[in-house]
Amino acid sequence: MMQITVVTLFPEMFVPLQESIIKRAQEAGLIEIRLINFRDYAASKHKNVDDVPYGGGAGMLLKPEPIFAAIRDLPQTSAGRRLILMSPQGQVFHQEKAKQWSEQEELVFICGHYEGFDERIRELADEEVSLGDYVLTGGELAAMVMIDAVVRLIPGVLGEEASAEEDSHSIGLLEYPQYTRPADFEGQKVPDVLLSGHHAQIKRWRRKESLRRTFLRRPDLINGVIFRTDDYPLLEE
Ligand code: ADE
Repeated sequence: MMQITVVTLFPEMFVPLQESIIKRAQEAGLIEIRLINFRDYAASKHKNVDDVPYGGGAGMLLKPEPIFAAIRDLPQTSAGRRLILMSPQGQVFHQEKAKQWSEQEELVFICGHYEGFDERIRELADEEVSLGDYVLTGGELAAMVMIDAVVRLIPGVLGEEASAEEDSHSIGLLEYPQYTRPADFEGQKVPDVLLSGHHAQIKRWRRKESLRRTFLRRPDLINGVIFRTDDYPLLEE
């Protein structure tokens, strides 16, 4: 059972995790999602969680005390806990990171909101991660995206046959084209090789199409591909 904890000012935003595969993963006891509002840890009468920046400047910053208090109040668990700070200044999230995190016992996502946070909050986190090179109004949507990408990699979350091993990005390549019935849709035909029942040829065709797609659509990924010797004849076709 993976424990996923989200520390946020907006726990009500997390309804999307109550649907579909992530919902089923919770019902099956494969994951537990706990939402903690760090405003509950604000000491002042008015439950302030932010304040003006020292040195002046626009906007408000999240104060350290409520977030530190929320983290310190988490139940004691084993060593397998990772604290992850959502931030556009972090390393950009990718499939390999999702794979690593899917093997942890507990993930804690700390979501900032508004203009920014006090620098000392960074001390809390094991790592700082960004969803991508753009700025969101808060870390909540980023955390939801990352939770979704991680949870589907936990064994048992996807069906047996719906393995994640051939997904786009899981082997550094985009996935090959796929087809279902009918074999001829308005004159657009399914490639013959897929109807042939010839497994070795199907595998070869899929590898070639994966390589082709990646070259054409995402040449930036090619440096990260681990080529195999039997790829070279495919590249020449
Ligand atoms: N908070 C604001 N922008 C973000 C981003 N790109 N990734 C993660 N958290 C964020």
